[in-house]
Amino acid sequence: MTVRTLDGLDVSGKRVLIRADLNVPVRDGRITDLTRIERLSPTIRELSENGARVIVCSHFDRPKGRRVTAMSLEPMALALQEVLGRPVHFANDCIGVQAQQVIERLAPGDVAVLENTRFHPGEEDNDPSFAAELAKLADLFVNDAFSAAHRAHASTEGVAHLLPSCAGRLMQAELEALTAALGTPVRPVMAIVGGSKVSTKLDLLGNLVGRVDILVIGGAMANTFLAAQGKAVGRSLQESEMHDTAREIAARARSANCTIVLPVDAVTAREFRADPPTETVTIDAIPADSMMLDVGPATVADLIARLAYVKTLVWNGPLGAFETPPFDAATVALAHAVADATQSGALKSVAGGGDTVSALRHAGVLDKLSYVSSAGGAFLEWMEGKTLPGIAALETKTETHPGEAANS
Ligand code: 3PG
Repeated sequence: MTVRTLDGLDVSGKRVLIRADLNVPVRDGRITDLTRIERLSPTIRELSENGARVIVCSHFDRPKGRRVTAMSLEPMALALQEVLGRPVHFANDCIGVQAQQVIERLAPGDVAVLENTRFHPGEEDNDPSFAAELAKLADLFVNDAFSAAHRAHASTEGVAHLLPSCAGRLMQAELEALTAALGTPVRPVMAIVGGSKVSTKLDLLGNLVGRVDILVIGGAMANTFLAAQGKAVGRSLQESEMHDTAREIAARARSANCTIVLPVDAVTAREFRADPPTETVTIDAIPADSMMLDVGPATVADLIARLAYVKTLVWNGPLGAFETPPFDAATVALAHAVADATQSGALKSVAGGGDTVSALRHAGVLDKLSYVSSAGGAFLEWMEGKTLPGIAALETKTETHPGEAANS
């Protein structure tokens, strides 16, 4: 990893602006999942214990450059206060006098959260003058928002060029886990990619066939690959216009020595609802009036057998329609096998993406993989091999360490 980290950084008495991702799930005005806030807390604690004046900025939702009361970060500041077990101040704006006044009152070790950066159009426009306003508030910049690093916004990218900057501990952990999984992995490497559409995961599949040894395709995407091979898939969800693309991906995989694994059996139903009558059939016997809604037990057994010799696993997307029982069975069974192999020390497992995290939580193994990313879009773009602007901005700065620059 080439980004700078907090190691050896002297933050005592300094104003440190942290870009966090406080874009947490909220339902009926209540935060439903604290994972992102909990994962951010080690960076804040470390800075605070080392005497920094900690200033947290983030976006929440998509207010499109306007102040939207329902999208205030005040509830997240309160949640952070609970998680940290210490007072957290709140500034009603992320730039200007209101932010400055709150920051001026911070003693070393104190923490403040600034209001939603996306209340200003300059944030998403990556407007240099808005980035300069943010930079004015601090001596150092720490980006701990891997999950927003695919956005070239003022608080993720612009400000990193204006202040001495480095990655926070959460960003560092994400980068280390992802590098271990796809950058310099222990082989053989297996990737599992599920989800409904080949068309939304083209870049991902294209990148993976050149990097992994085994590519397992699940979810409705598998239907498109099977149909492209001439298999009858009944009324299953699939994209007929993607058949050529699926065949091209399969050909590229062959020339890169990557084995593509498709389901050998399926659980089918005539209607898509919870607990309908189902049939388990081999992949050559999908009834014309039915849909494949999960992979079958023979496929799961095949995948579990492969786990025995795979050393690294990257997982994005469930195998079936896991939110509707009983079509969660294959994903849950595989999740348990992945967790067991990881816990025994035989497998390094990295997973990410919104649906995948929900599926692993549903299976009760969220804390049993080597690393589960809290990022959605950023995790996907990383797996696609794309440069994430928020990370590139931390890599391309001058060689000066933030601590040295701030001291000079
Ligand atoms: C996320 O939740 O994936 C990040 O916070 C990015 O949010 P965005 O898609 O609104 O930029």
